[in-house]
Amino acid sequence: MTAGRTIAGTRVELVQGDITQQDTDAIVNAANTTLLGGGGVDGAIHRAGGPSILEECRRLGGCPTGDAKLTGAGRLPARHVIHAVGPVYRDGRHGEADLLASVYRRSVETALAHGLRSVAFPSISTGAYRFPIAEAAAIALGTVARVVRDRPGALDLVRFVLFSAPDLAVYEKALAALPA
Ligand code: APR
Repeated sequence: MTAGRTIAGTRVELVQGDITQQDTDAIVNAANTTLLGGGGVDGAIHRAGGPSILEECRRLGGCPTGDAKLTGAGRLPARHVIHAVGPVYRDGRHGEADLLASVYRRSVETALAHGLRSVAFPSISTGAYRFPIAEAAAIALGTVARVVRDRPGALDLVRFVLFSAPDLAVYEKALAALPA
């Protein structure tokens, strides 16, 4: 049973799984400002998708924190990768929350700009970038809910793909806490 809600005509769902295996129009990469690869989600996407993704990334000239850029998806089941750069969490007093909201908003805007109908997100910034996951989940779901309410029916599906059961449970609580 997949947890989820329909918000303004868009299915928002939570699953435990591997972002590289998601068959959505786009998957979102938890990238860094160089867009030249890394570990975690970034490493998994480049490993599974193959070298064509990095070749495209090299031509993008990086991406600022809080923003997102689109490439193809190489050998992945998804059609596109949206490379999103979340903030490194320092102490919560350096604009981290706003930057995390920005990266979710810019990722959805990028999908909409390319006419995509389904997007899968990892839990951006909650790994190597050490963003506390409960706060990050509230920001992620709150931001996506706001953006899809502004564009009713523009997206069919936004899926959050959590790598562990504990992370999924945190996101389920945050989804339940969203205003109706
Ligand atoms: N599928 C889904 N989620 C995953 C996967 C995967 N294959 N691998 C890791 N995760 C989870 C982690 O458990 C964490 O909850 O994704 C979340 C984000 O972790 P990171 O990948 O470390 O991303 P982030 O915290 O945003 O740090 C980004 O790490 O890999 C580098 O180049 C990247 O510098 C950038 C930084």
